[in-house]
Amino acid sequence: MTYVISGHVRVACVMVGLPARGKTYVAQKVCRYLQWMGIATKVFNVGNYRREIVGADQKHSFFDPSNAEAAQRRLQCALEALGDMLRWFEEENGVVGIYDATNSTQARRKLLQTELEKCGIQPMFIESVCDDERIILDNIMQVKLNSPDYAHMTDSESILEDFRARIAHYEHVYEPVQEEDLSFVKMINVGSKVIINRIQGYLQSRVVYYLMNLHISPRAIFFSRHGESMFNISGKLGGDSDLSPRGRKYSEALPGLISKHLDGQNLTVWTSTMRRTIQTGQHLPYPKLTWKALDELDAGVCDGLTYEEVEQQYPEDFAMRDNDKFNYRYRGGESYRDVVLRLEPVIMELERQHNILIIGHQAVLRCIYAYYLNYTHDELPYIKIPLHTVLKLTPRAYGCDVEQYRFDIEAVDTYRANPKHPSSLRRVGSLRRAAATNQGAATINAALSPLPTQPGQLNAHLPNSPLIGVSPPVSASVSRTGVNQPRHSNLGPAGAVHTIAS
Ligand code: F6P
Repeated sequence: MTYVISGHVRVACVMVGLPARGKTYVAQKVCRYLQWMGIATKVFNVGNYRREIVGADQKHSFFDPSNAEAAQRRLQCALEALGDMLRWFEEENGVVGIYDATNSTQARRKLLQTELEKCGIQPMFIESVCDDERIILDNIMQVKLNSPDYAHMTDSESILEDFRARIAHYEHVYEPVQEEDLSFVKMINVGSKVIINRIQGYLQSRVVYYLMNLHISPRAIFFSRHGESMFNISGKLGGDSDLSPRGRKYSEALPGLISKHLDGQNLTVWTSTMRRTIQTGQHLPYPKLTWKALDELDAGVCDGLTYEEVEQQYPEDFAMRDNDKFNYRYRGGESYRDVVLRLEPVIMELERQHNILIIGHQAVLRCIYAYYLNYTHDELPYIKIPLHTVLKLTPRAYGCDVEQYRFDIEAVDTYRANPKHPSSLRRVGSLRRAAATNQGAATINAALSPLPTQPGQLNAHLPNSPLIGVSPPVSASVSRTGVNQPRHSNLGPAGAVHTIAS
């Protein structure tokens, strides 16, 4: 199954809204979702052009609409970004461009509509309206205080004052989207109300549906592979085998760790329909849901074989898979690309939900993890998700925090490295430190294979703890940046290094 974008439809999502209304957050989320599905998508952030062209350290007066000279410079930045987006559509076969700016007047939107339609690109306006002071303040505190616009300032009171003055300038000229002839979606107070107008076609309706499912309430998503299975021990792919004795031990230890992290909150457990995931979840005292879509990648004729047997019996297929693991489809089975597409409803539901624990499989968890942590399709099939390990993802304004808890219950290693890049093996488990740009703290960012797996690698400095069979407790926190952000940039407080003694 592949998505065919009929008749070469191209869409420009044009963000609209006052500053600190979460436009960039929404733009990045939509971009990550579409890229994950294999749709060529890119964000063009006019703020970045402004910082590049006129410098980041502009006071609020630069945004005053009566400042004619500054208004001219701001228009120039907007046009530069638009020009680049149009070139990207033409030269790089872009499908969805996301134009991230305030676009707060009817005149600006008319200009964009005209230019886009001239090039045969459908404009779709996404307006974020928010009058909830608490959400606005949260956004300012989480995002704007760390913005490069204020890198030269240290006093948060002065930053807040300047930023509020900037918002007030925009409020003077702001015209909510109400042009009847435009395709638009208006999100009010982070999706508590959504108004849509003239939404057309597959891409636009997909984006609207996605936006309707977003929320920003704090929550955690836990990932665990099933406990070690009998097939894992013999190195066989697929199948529907039972847990091994060590896998059963893991299933008994799991509830302790999960309840410790929930602090009395609710959780729902999602498993696949396979015996090994259901058995792993059997002692967890939470509501459970079984998803066929979470079943392991179907290895077709290779189901039940070991990697060595596949290489002997299907040498060409084996080589083809090594050559392009994301796209290779097992005879009578699936490719990673197929799995991503079948997981799309799972992602949509995850966006709607609160605390969830997914007990899944190696390939399936790679796909979901790649969505949250923004891995490319090339990287995705080589993400390391070891057995007997819980990953806790905490979605943040930009990116995601990841904590890893490895249980001291032995299990086989089912990971097969990328033979094209054996050097990536050396990067497995390497956590890189990057100096923070404006906070002076160190952050940890995940490298290509972000999950530390070498025994003792992370627990060297951690104390032993008697916790529920998780001994020694091993945890580390990593964060990854949002779409279009440099891999090793500072993520602010959410990315700070911390060690959690469980
Ligand atoms: O080995 C465990 C397993 O879940 C198999 O059932 C599955 O075929 C395989 O991992 C997927 O991993 P990879 O795509 O790296 O072969």
